[in-house]
Amino acid sequence: MRRAGAWLYVMLAFACAGAAQARSAAETMDILMWNREPVGGPFELIDQSGKPRNDRDFRGKLMLVYFGFTYCPDVCPTDLMAIGQALEQLGPAADAVQPIFITVDPERDTPEHLADYVPMFHPRLIGLTGSRDAIGRAAEVYKVYFAKVPIGKEAGDYTVDHTSFIYLMDRDGRYLGFFPPGTSAERMVEIIRPRLAAPSQ
Ligand code: NI
Repeated sequence: MRRAGAWLYVMLAFACAGAAQARSAAETMDILMWNREPVGGPFELIDQSGKPRNDRDFRGKLMLVYFGFTYCPDVCPTDLMAIGQALEQLGPAADAVQPIFITVDPERDTPEHLADYVPMFHPRLIGLTGSRDAIGRAAEVYKVYFAKVPIGKEAGDYTVDHTSFIYLMDRDGRYLGFFPPGTSAERMVEIIRPRLAAPSQ
């Protein structure tokens, strides 16, 4: 099986060369799971109405930040639905929570497209897009991995692989923790509700 081993080595070498500019999914997950680097920080993006938005706009509120893309068939809608349900369950207290969806597919997720998408999950859900660079920088500070992957036979047809964590940030924009993909609305409520009772000064 030496031959197979050699091929594996060649494939890994290629994979590493391809990933030279960005961190791998495993590396990104590792940083997040073990708090190896700060999570969250500045972003400068555009919302679904075309208005420029940055992280400072949301000071004084808890932020629930989720990265995904509107063509995502399964994981993104499920998590966004859970976020919407959690806010419903929190009732009027949820006004102190700002849910934010940041696209990792800015080519297709224009402000107009986001305007059709985000209200399906919650009336106050803000959808953010921007240039590839601006999205890349936001993903970097939140330790989000994403990569365009070609699919199907049509040229230009693609999906976007991405990590799907729901980040909870405090009223000063500081990272509190993340919910893994598939977290229930009830679990989010359990974690968020005590934070609403005791606002940080
Ligand atoms: Ni997704």
